[in-house]
Amino acid sequence: MAPFKIKMHTRVLKVNPKRPEPEKIRTAARRIKMGDLVAFPTETVYGLGADALDAKAVRKIFVAKGRPSDNPLIIHICDRKDLSVLAVRIPDMAYSLADAFWPGPLTMVLKKSKRVPKITTGGLDTVAVRMPENRIAQALIKESGTPIAAPSANYFGRPSPTAAEHVLEDMVGRIGLVIDGGPTKIGIESTVVDLTSKVPILLRPGGVTVEQLQKELGRISIHPALRGRRSKGVHRSPGMKYKHYSPDAQVILVDGPAASTRKKTVELARKMREEHKRVGVIAITKAAYGADAVKHVSTEGEFASSLFRTFREFDSKKIDVIIVQAIPKRGIGLGVMNRLEKAAYKKIRA
Ligand code: TXA
Ligand code: MG
Repeated sequence: MAPFKIKMHTRVLKVNPKRPEPEKIRTAARRIKMGDLVAFPTETVYGLGADALDAKAVRKIFVAKGRPSDNPLIIHICDRKDLSVLAVRIPDMAYSLADAFWPGPLTMVLKKSKRVPKITTGGLDTVAVRMPENRIAQALIKESGTPIAAPSANYFGRPSPTAAEHVLEDMVGRIGLVIDGGPTKIGIESTVVDLTSKVPILLRPGGVTVEQLQKELGRISIHPALRGRRSKGVHRSPGMKYKHYSPDAQVILVDGPAASTRKKTVELARKMREEHKRVGVIAITKAAYGADAVKHVSTEGEFASSLFRTFREFDSKKIDVIIVQAIPKRGIGLGVMNRLEKAAYKKIRA
């Protein structure tokens, strides 16, 4: 393989998220067809895309992201028919889930077909597939005429990008094109469900909630790793074993009843500042926290959509410690708490 050029020119293409301009989509699709990378918006986070069926193109994703090669990618499609190109022995429940949640933030893990190169699935015999709702993403897949493999467009271990600026922070000089389609709607990554066993298994909570899945499927089991237990043997989702979503700052997660959480946050912020640390707070209750930066969130949805952005903003303000108040693990709150627990350096009960 020819060495990958790391110092390339990164072009930014601004595209209308409501009505993507066809000529701009064609420009981006041309790169995908040539086997190059394109970063593009989805409704969850920005993805770093390549032709999923072209092993050489997919290899570039791993290099640009600094991603371990055993961590498989999600393949994005724009037409249900593509499911049968990518997967075999597709259970009926996959079609029910597609009816209910596609296009949208749901990824299904299925038995892989021979068409999908091993590098795309990190060597696994299963494949993760999702149909995004974002119009730019849909237009790009359609115009490229091929399914697009895309992990989140952050450098390995960094918070996922929810705006084109974040992609540039991590990827400038490493990829040729970023489509700027404005901020993403949901802000955390898609829900991943494994449909290769009798009872579906939730591998990653996200935009589609467990409650919604339960309603559709009847039964769903939650992977033990998500319950904070160490899973024995193979990791069902290789991504689970890696530390993720970390800002440079240390994250301290404070959990407990609202009044004590507020009090604990104030105390911690004071203590840290006395130690000459710059303190950021992500709060669900209003108070005078006496911190260097405060982000107040009033709903679970707002928490999700602003979380990764706030991590990056606090990093740019040279915050040393981020104190985050926990929320109930229901609805999209389960996804938010999963990202926080992965990012957290310490968890404190208030
Ligand atoms: O919302 C999203 O899903 C975004 C946008 C760009 O679509 N993509 C995304 O990709 O979050 P990534 O690569 O950052 O996360 C993919 C997750 C990883 O945890 C990976 O281990 C898991 O999906 N995954 C992929 N293929 C899998 C498979 N065959 N079996 C189990 N887990 C798989
Ligand atoms: Mg990711």
